[in-house]
Amino acid sequence: MAHLIAPSLLSADFARLHEAVELVEASPAPWLHLDVMDGVFVPNISFGFPVIKAIRPLSKKVFDVHLMIAAPDPYITAFRDAGADRLTVHYEACPHLHRTVQAIKEAGMKAGVAINPHTPVHLLADILGDLDQVILMSVNPGFGGQRFIPGTIRKLNMLRELREVHGSQLMIEVDGGVSAQNVKELVDHGADALVAGNSIFNAPDPAAAIRALAVVD
Ligand code: DX5
Ligand code: ZN
Repeated sequence: MAHLIAPSLLSADFARLHEAVELVEASPAPWLHLDVMDGVFVPNISFGFPVIKAIRPLSKKVFDVHLMIAAPDPYITAFRDAGADRLTVHYEACPHLHRTVQAIKEAGMKAGVAINPHTPVHLLADILGDLDQVILMSVNPGFGGQRFIPGTIRKLNMLRELREVHGSQLMIEVDGGVSAQNVKELVDHGADALVAGNSIFNAPDPAAAIRALAVVD
């Protein structure tokens, strides 16, 4: 299956957010990845509903919202109302993950679970059948521009096997440190979606960077 690129707005110039959104809009990337951080689950604070709501009218792309927050449950419908199409919560943040995933789907969104680099993929076995996507974190969440953790490739292979065993159709998205240097390896190992922030928005030509990540031979 062909892979897709999900540019992460986290590395865009926030004073010119509309330009970054328009750039993605004109690109072959079908998703826009939006990283919400609360300063509790991760040691950083990014943006929340008002920003997502403000850019929603500027884009027809799928809004792929990645919640790095300690307590997502009370905010699920608020993210839907702000414009999220896909909503991903962290395994490490959700003691009642099954309930959280059902609430996301009942709110009309695609449901995802993200796992940190230290979390084994087999812990997802009993929730896999309920998911539309898994985000494999290939950096410790909280910041853009970090170095890709190589052990992610092994986790990607294991997750693909687990998906097959469960007969699931979920998408595997890799998030963190994705660049022109490792995109081919990730695609060869079966990643369905690749998040990229720094390697797009800090490139001399961000539009060309998206195109280069999207076309891998
Ligand atoms: C990290 C975020 C990522 C981040 C990726 O906590 O989840 O989505 O924006 O950025 P890069 O591609 O710069 O590693
Ligand atoms: Zn992310």
